[in-house]
Amino acid sequence: MCGIIGYCGKKLAAPILFEALKCLEYRGYDSAGMATLYDGQLLVEKDAGKIDEVNQKHNLEALPGNMAIGHTRWATHGGATQANAHPHMDCHSRLAVVHNGIIENYQTLRHELIKRGHHFNSETDTEVIPHLLEEEMQNGCALEQAVLTVAPKLKESYAFLALSLDDPGKIVGTRKNNPLLAGIDGDNNYVSSDALAFSKHTRRLITLGHTEVVVLSSDRVEFLDAEGNKLVKQAIELDESWADNGKNGYPTFMLKEIMEEPEVINKTVQQDERKFTEMALDILRARQVIIAACGTSRYAALVGRYLFSKIGRKFCDVVMASEFSYFADSVDKNTLVIAVSQSGETADVVEGAKTAKAAGAEIMSIVNRPNSTLADLSHQVICLKCGPEVSVAATKAFISQLAIFYLLSFSMVNSFSKAANQLGDMCSRVSKTLNCNNGRLYELSHQLKDRSDFYYIARGINFAIASEGALKLKEISYIHAEGMPAGELKHGTLALIEQGTPVVVICPADYTYDETLNNAIEAKSRGAYIIAVSDRESEIYDYWIKIPRVDEIIYPMVAVIPLQLLAYHMAISRGCDPDKPRNLAKSVTVK
Ligand code: AGP
Repeated sequence: MCGIIGYCGKKLAAPILFEALKCLEYRGYDSAGMATLYDGQLLVEKDAGKIDEVNQKHNLEALPGNMAIGHTRWATHGGATQANAHPHMDCHSRLAVVHNGIIENYQTLRHELIKRGHHFNSETDTEVIPHLLEEEMQNGCALEQAVLTVAPKLKESYAFLALSLDDPGKIVGTRKNNPLLAGIDGDNNYVSSDALAFSKHTRRLITLGHTEVVVLSSDRVEFLDAEGNKLVKQAIELDESWADNGKNGYPTFMLKEIMEEPEVINKTVQQDERKFTEMALDILRARQVIIAACGTSRYAALVGRYLFSKIGRKFCDVVMASEFSYFADSVDKNTLVIAVSQSGETADVVEGAKTAKAAGAEIMSIVNRPNSTLADLSHQVICLKCGPEVSVAATKAFISQLAIFYLLSFSMVNSFSKAANQLGDMCSRVSKTLNCNNGRLYELSHQLKDRSDFYYIARGINFAIASEGALKLKEISYIHAEGMPAGELKHGTLALIEQGTPVVVICPADYTYDETLNNAIEAKSRGAYIIAVSDRESEIYDYWIKIPRVDEIIYPMVAVIPLQLLAYHMAISRGCDPDKPRNLAKSVTVK
């Protein structure tokens, strides 16, 4: 779960890479580094810490040269130390490599290389790559030939870039099971794990297929297949929303992305009605439908499951993607798997989809990244169209995912337009919910910031919103939080309620209201401090977060917004960085 970037062109490379690495920081932020080729020298600077910290210490931005590779790391093999930071080099410091992925057979390769006299400086799996390349380069190979020879020896996931003093003027990259995209711009070319890293400079991109190789120089970008044959590949143009990757005046990406939610609904509903109607028919026809997703995407899927059942009368199951392979035995050609992932790179989701596809299942994916690994392997792809989501905490993507599930469910009863219009009307209510609650939730967060445990309860379609609210709180403010169906509280968790324990009750005035309120009363009589998210008042609330009255099935969309804001303000009031929570990364590309 790292970010890699390479640039070759007419400009100074280091400032471009520095900015690019900041865009990639969501993929990992425990160490960073860069390597440039300049005046016959290979210059490498790297260290543990966030990119700004490493830059302050080593002045990354000032490295000379027009060609460079860079890396931001989320540690897997070896701690966050200077030695383990990328780039990694060969024994003679003549070539450098940055890598995203896990080389599963690195121990065997490392032992063999040590036996052949190589010296290692880190505990990483990555370091085997420069040493293997070194052996090929010593045989007089061109860098791309060395990469073509070494790549098949590496198991199982990699996207890496290499540059070498012995074959200067080019950056060579390849990938397997991890993304790599080239950004094409005449005399300035880029290659990265994510188009976001270069979308400010160019929106023309070419995605590398598995085991393909890219050779990047200042005036051209060439592609080779695994046998070294030249490939002709077509560039695609990214939507202009991908060029906007700044905070736009907001203090954090998370707040910016929450505030974009009304507009995001409008963008998401711009879908092809015919395509949705056909996909809805596929869902209805499939003998079994399984939705696979992780984290926030899974909670959107849980809302989707209720919608499929309520509107389309279609039962389906939602499986945590990390558990999906244990159900693979019952997947066959009569199965439709809907894989939901904002990034389209989450390893568990990608693996699940691959396993299901191999068993003959049809794969429909709901992604925000049309060029992602998941989109690539799917038979049908729905794009969220919510623009780049940078904050590790998913917010606007969740709203988009909900909108897609509404559109799919209504398409099952031939009512795509009805859903699109209804969602369009929601934008002003979502705006109102944001504006009315932001200041109040800031105050509430100051009142509650020292509480150690929160419980979130709801029923029916709103249950997933309780879980999502709890996930948001724990991931960015590091407070223990649990979300559960309200009826489950008395089966164990009630024992944890003490005087003042915050219990967030999602109880809109829908079919779940009365029963959820009863559960809230049970908690209150054990001392709970009841924070209600509702459009209907009650004297049992200690704190009332008002949401607008909407159609019964639309409540999840308005109820989640104050919970995102509450988590955000809790994080800020506790001094936590909501965009980069500790131990986490946005794209979880390892299993
Ligand atoms: C959400 O706030 C989390 N950061 C996380 O649960 C995330 O939703 C999960 O890792 C899935 O990511 P994906 O949608 O990109 O697959």
